[in-house]
Amino acid sequence: MQTIKKVTEDIYWLGVNDEGLQFFEEFIPIPEGVAYNSYLLVDEKTVLFDTADIRVATEFLGNLKQALDGKTLDYLVVQHMEPDHSCCIKHVLANYPQVTIIGNKKTFQFMRQFGLEIKNENIEVVGEGDTKTFGKHTIAFAFAPMVHWPEVMVSYDVTNGVLFSADAFGSFGKVGERLFSDEVDYDKDWLEKARRYYTNIVGKYGSPVQKLLKKAGTLDIKMFLPLHGLIWRENLGYLIDKYNKWSTYEPEEKGVLIVYASMYGHTEKAINVFEGMLKEKGVNNIATYNISHTDVTYLISETFRLSHVVIGCPTYNADIFPLMHSYLKRLGSLNLKNRTFGIIENSSWAPVAGDIIHKYLDEELKGMTVLDARVRIVSALSEKNTPEVEALVSSLVQSLELS
Ligand code: FEO
Repeated sequence: MQTIKKVTEDIYWLGVNDEGLQFFEEFIPIPEGVAYNSYLLVDEKTVLFDTADIRVATEFLGNLKQALDGKTLDYLVVQHMEPDHSCCIKHVLANYPQVTIIGNKKTFQFMRQFGLEIKNENIEVVGEGDTKTFGKHTIAFAFAPMVHWPEVMVSYDVTNGVLFSADAFGSFGKVGERLFSDEVDYDKDWLEKARRYYTNIVGKYGSPVQKLLKKAGTLDIKMFLPLHGLIWRENLGYLIDKYNKWSTYEPEEKGVLIVYASMYGHTEKAINVFEGMLKEKGVNNIATYNISHTDVTYLISETFRLSHVVIGCPTYNADIFPLMHSYLKRLGSLNLKNRTFGIIENSSWAPVAGDIIHKYLDEELKGMTVLDARVRIVSALSEKNTPEVEALVSSLVQSLELS
């Protein structure tokens, strides 16, 4: 049983973990679970920042009641209308009918679209840069459109430097026992969850994220309170650096991601040989995934992380292996750019996979370099391929500029 926790002297975390949700947004596997964070400021007025998914309504409302400790709820700030944070607004209104809901024009437009009719007396519309004082705390509202929806805004507590950051700086994963990022081994246990969350959900919106980071750079921020994942109160620069890289599509590391498909093991054998030769040449940062055994969201996350990608792909029905379509398409729809690709293709007759992949990378994505060296396997790797494999290894080593 989870309980509320104090974040600061007068801000409470009311989040609820969802361990039973198999797919976030119904397509992203989350074996690590997810938390819907919500926060209550207890000042002369009580102010709730966002709600939670309908799946955890009972527990969330219990947490809210506990944190209010007999007080009434004066304000609800709605920073984001995606239903994982807004579904409980109707329950909050039912329990605290006098509450004033603070949002921007688009917030209330989205509420109406989702079927929530709020009475005028319950509405307070704020604009970019508006401030509101709730006692000793003054909150400034800043719009962050497309991080991750158009209505998103963040709220900055001028009094204590807390940034209620909406979807920004969030992560998959359960929180509660450990609520702060400085209480965990973040690199080891959390970075992958944060990267997979960011890249798959907000990854497309690099430019809006850059705008938010610039706005945030003008503030003296002491804490990030996101809508998912851990709270940050130390070393904020670490996460800002990651967000800068992700939102400018700059790889975090020099290294090679190998994504391959192999129906009967021949392409896989070739990949194993290729990987061994890369290692012999001193390339040690290699991550290899069989696309048939790896959800594409993990591949997306790894493609954001690493500088180089080698695709191993058979020709299939005069096209590329079906799952490879999904991977490449997702790279395009997330605007990923500036990576270097190598291609290993396999075909028993009429090879087209290599050309299709090359064309897609050239024409549909931005800033991608495709190495000239290509390995062309005919059914199974043979000695005839050795010069091609050596050429691709050598091109990658040169491109990686490893010293
Ligand atoms: Fe967790 Fe875009 O909402």
